[in-house]
Amino acid sequence: MATTRVTLRQLRAFEAVARLRSFSRAAEELHITQPAVSKQIRLLNDEIGLPLLEQIGKKVFLTQAGEELFSTCADWLETWGRFEQSIANLKGLKQGRLKIATVTTAKYFMPRVLGPFCAEYPGIDVAMEVVNRDRLLDRLARNQDDLYIMGVPPDGKDIESEPLISNDLVVLAPTSHPLAGRKKIPFRDLGLHRFLSREQGSGTRMTVERIFRENEVPFDVRMELGSNEAIKQAVAGGLGLAVLSRSTLYPGDGSELTVLDVEGFPIRRAWYAVRPKGKQLSVVAETFLTFLRDHVQMLAPRQ
Ligand code: PGA
Repeated sequence: MATTRVTLRQLRAFEAVARLRSFSRAAEELHITQPAVSKQIRLLNDEIGLPLLEQIGKKVFLTQAGEELFSTCADWLETWGRFEQSIANLKGLKQGRLKIATVTTAKYFMPRVLGPFCAEYPGIDVAMEVVNRDRLLDRLARNQDDLYIMGVPPDGKDIESEPLISNDLVVLAPTSHPLAGRKKIPFRDLGLHRFLSREQGSGTRMTVERIFRENEVPFDVRMELGSNEAIKQAVAGGLGLAVLSRSTLYPGDGSELTVLDVEGFPIRRAWYAVRPKGKQLSVVAETFLTFLRDHVQMLAPRQ
């Protein structure tokens, strides 16, 4: 196999298409056109001598050769990224690419800290991936990002997690609900109501199910929604109650939604910065983590 002419650009294009399973999303992420991505993949195919991707309709699949190249690419691009970082470091520059992955709910506060961070370090390009907890764990296992922000870090010795700030779960109801304004509502009364819930695989859902189980109260899910905003709208519309992170609330929400005073709530938790144990953070990631620690108040709920 004559792979001497394989270029970093081809590998980057392939890795993005293989990871995102889409030529158009890869083009968007790499800030190049879709034909440019296709061209890089074609050149790479020619070099390797076997097809790497298969497109059926709009779906992109990896061939066996593609799967093997994909796992090689992940290691290789990370090593190359570290090399670029050390060179930037040797030059005394804080520049490079920062890849953060956060759970869905963290999108309420992470952009607040990214604004001032990017203003202070204009040479750092930030990519933030927003997915639910299950998909985040998958990215963590594949070591796809520099840092992960989540509410329920996985058990186990192979990760390092650092609590940043509180992430309380509260019970939400429409302001017109009969329980609104009542003091010390017994937990078991929640069993009499129907709930709007996040999808399976969400950290919020996982915690809520555990708490109801521990209290031996049935968790009656009327509707499952993959978005905190959609849940808030549905609660305001009277479709049921919901347990969500306080981080999802805006100051203006008080006109339609109220936080119920239920015994055992708020459920005290934290937001964590997580990374694989022993992962050597790039200078850029180290810079971001320090910035995060120094500006942790920006992550606080606004209501
Ligand atoms: P989720 O995670 O957005 O996946 O529900 C939030 C959390 O764990 O608090």
